[in-house]
Amino acid sequence: MEFSWKIVILLTSVSLGVQYIVVRPLLMVPKPCPRHTLYKESPGNAHTQMSFCKNSSVHTEAQIAAPQKHILLFSQTRTGSSFTGQLFNQHPEIFYMFEPLYHIQKIFSDGSSPKQQARDRALLGAYRDLLLNLYTCDLSFLEDYIQPEPKNHMTASFFRRSSSHALCSPPVCLGASEKEDRPEEVWCNRKCRTLNLTLASLACQSRSHVAIKTVRFPLVKDLRTLIEDPRLDLKIVHLVRDPRAVLASRMATFSDQYRSWKIWNATNHQPRHMDLSLINKMCKDMDHSVLTGLQNPDWLRGRYLLLRYEDLALNPEDKTKEIYKFLGLDLDPRVLTWIAQNTNSTNKWNYKFSTSRDSRTTLQRWRLQLSFDIVRSMQSLCSTSFALLGYRKVQSMAELRNTTLSLVEPIEF
Ligand SMILES: *[C@@H]1O[C@H](CO)[C@@H](O)[C@H](O)[C@H]1NC(C)=O
Ligand SMILES: *[C@@H]1O[C@H](CO)[C@@H](O)[C@H](O)[C@H]1NC(C)=O
Ligand SMILES: *[C@@H]1O[C@H](CO)[C@@H](O)[C@H](O)[C@H]1NC(C)=O
Ligand SMILES: *[C@@H]1O[C@H](CO)[C@@H](O)[C@H](O)[C@H]1NC(C)=O
Ligand SMILES: *[C@@H]1O[C@H](CO)[C@@H](O)[C@H](O)[C@H]1NC(C)=O
Repeated sequence: MEFSWKIVILLTSVSLGVQYIVVRPLLMVPKPCPRHTLYKESPGNAHTQMSFCKNSSVHTEAQIAAPQKHILLFSQTRTGSSFTGQLFNQHPEIFYMFEPLYHIQKIFSDGSSPKQQARDRALLGAYRDLLLNLYTCDLSFLEDYIQPEPKNHMTASFFRRSSSHALCSPPVCLGASEKEDRPEEVWCNRKCRTLNLTLASLACQSRSHVAIKTVRFPLVKDLRTLIEDPRLDLKIVHLVRDPRAVLASRMATFSDQYRSWKIWNATNHQPRHMDLSLINKMCKDMDHSVLTGLQNPDWLRGRYLLLRYEDLALNPEDKTKEIYKFLGLDLDPRVLTWIAQNTNSTNKWNYKFSTSRDSRTTLQRWRLQLSFDIVRSMQSLCSTSFALLGYRKVQSMAELRNTTLSLVEPIEF
């Protein structure tokens, strides 16, 4: 109760300061292409953005579909984004891609580059370019980044193809069988073989929505030019999670990067020269984006949804309904079936990036995995995030380990 007033006052004062009116010059720019009419000639021409609609008189007898809509699942690593992405992946009208920006980051991190800041800026620009092209179903743009380089638009190296239902089912994959009851992650790469990117682009065009999950943008404001781009109709689902849970999950998943945290956890002594910047940045970035979203600036109005992973895991059906309402898309029964099968069953298919697990019991696991010393440091390092997002701090080891004590305040954003 107390902290939500603080937020209201903070947000009110900030939004009064920045209120201004921008009328989007929608009439001045070309309309987005109707579906099925994207200009595709050679992959080298993917950059010619302004003339990418075919002469649509070819299609006069066909029904011109409504323009596609676009969804970005915006998050950070180990926040439950794979799980949440499945809520889009399971919908038959959504073409879903799992972290396609991976390919760009890999290229950038391979080369030696002069200035970190310049590099980061170029990287963000490349990310945005790729997203724009993927959202308009031009997957050939990705070919510049995939290693080894695709031949004849065919590749076996599409990152996490198996996490995209559309890329594991006909017409893109003919090896798939209907009665397969194991998750696609297990068999897709083996059964579907090389990916035909032209075919994937066509499959993308046939759906009403394109959804992309990414953990590679630091701030929601980095997406502004995409949100304002008249060729897109983009909505952002911003997924957040208790920073303590994120840390525990990262320690288990990325042991090298988080080695000093593991030493700290095991010995109960903070190692000297401990690098806290990674965690500090994680929380600062999250706070920055949450504040941007809650200030409800003109360019983001109606296009931003803040989602706590905890609320989704505890109440998957209701939260999913809210998400779909925000997207303006009917919830498909297949999404609900997936939820029923994956939030309540024994964990049959367990692996590192598994999305299939009992969401309620795993939610609190971090409370048994972190030492109180680490938790206390996290709480002071990420203090603002806790207040903004309604995560309760614990004052003792007993509170930390007592999992009947909820650390998630009910909160409406
Ligand atoms: C589309 O193509 C047809 C036939 O090629 C041509 O007559 C028509 O002028 C074109 N329309 C536009 C808007 O370019
Ligand atoms: C990829 O799919 C396109 C579209 O169906 C097709 O024209 C092309 O021949 C396919 N490429 C290969 C190598 O099979
Ligand atoms: C979870 O599964 C159990 C046993 O199959 C069932 O009784 C229970 O209603 C299920 N709960 C939910 C929330 O689906
Ligand atoms: C932290 O230490 C405890 C006890 O030594 C251990 O059970 C737990 O797995 C560790 N947590 C992580 C994330 O490594
Ligand atoms: C754990 O927390 C619950 C809820 O606050 C409380 O009722 C219970 O007494 C606590 N258990 C222990 C062992 O402290």
